[in-house]
Amino acid sequence: MNKDILSKYVTENANIPWGTRNAERVLSALLVADNFWDIVSFSCEPLPAVAEALKLLADRGLIEFTDQGVLLTQKGRMFIEEEGVFPLHFHTCPRCDGKTVVIDEFREAFDEFLRIQIDRPEAIREFDQGYVTPETTFARIALADSRGDLRGKEVVVLGDDDLVGVALGLTGLVKSVVVLELDERLVAFEQRIATELGLSLQVIRHDLRKPLTKELLSKFDVFFCDPPETIEAFDAFVGRGIIALKGEGCAGYFGITHVESSYYKWRLLEMKLLQRGLVITDIIHDFNVYMNWEYVDEMLAWDLAPIKQPPIRNWYKSSMVRVEMVEKLEIPNEDLTNRDIYNDPESSTT
Ligand SMILES: [Fe+2]
Repeated sequence: MNKDILSKYVTENANIPWGTRNAERVLSALLVADNFWDIVSFSCEPLPAVAEALKLLADRGLIEFTDQGVLLTQKGRMFIEEEGVFPLHFHTCPRCDGKTVVIDEFREAFDEFLRIQIDRPEAIREFDQGYVTPETTFARIALADSRGDLRGKEVVVLGDDDLVGVALGLTGLVKSVVVLELDERLVAFEQRIATELGLSLQVIRHDLRKPLTKELLSKFDVFFCDPPETIEAFDAFVGRGIIALKGEGCAGYFGITHVESSYYKWRLLEMKLLQRGLVITDIIHDFNVYMNWEYVDEMLAWDLAPIKQPPIRNWYKSSMVRVEMVEKLEIPNEDLTNRDIYNDPESSTT
């Protein structure tokens, strides 16, 4: 057994391209965590790949699945040491939790948001929902404000189970916000809040697999979205965000995980951005922190998990990406209705 055998096994069985560096990351995580969901989170590797890796390690007697979680055996510790792999060490800033921004200036709007979001519709599987913590929603606003992307700007939010539209309305920083959302429950919820509080927030029911209507094309300064992470979903969400932008200097914000996307997929997604006239200006690791799902045991991830232990903390995180348009290109506004936007070999939380 060595890192090479482990990475080849994962490549074959999970159908995700893996090398020894990927294997190393899982071994490093095993030295500091015993909860399956933490191991996935700390390793920064796709969940189906981590699951396959752990199965092989268990088969070879290097780890054991116990009531306490995933435990390294004596043999396992020796193996990791012989492979020259070290435990992970975190040096995350405790003030901002690694987000690079704090939300102190928005305290009043944030407190109001906390009260409002208690009645939010619960995340449902049908639309691959899973919303971020309220702190994360406001950190997005603090970040965008820090880049000069909010004051006096026209903003579009493509899919909004994170309630970014409501948060933007509450802070009153932007000129206008339009939310495009498929889930009727969310549309009704955000509309009601907007009316009750007199927020400058327009909510439109729209399936992002369908082309954007003319009034929305080349209309906005900034977009926010948090897409499912297949290539098709990237086209539907980020792709539509891009064609909604007016032109050069306009910006977009979205999340991308390690849980559902290998660096091979990251590369494909990054190439799509460059091809569409955008440049990546910021990537902030683990910026977006998601609430644990109510439906965790209904997800593919639960079936894939080689040990059925519940998560002990918010383990699902994503990097925050900011892109800026340097060249406005002609991009087709195609119909993607017949594409499966939710599933590929690396996805597991739908
Ligand atoms: Fe900090």
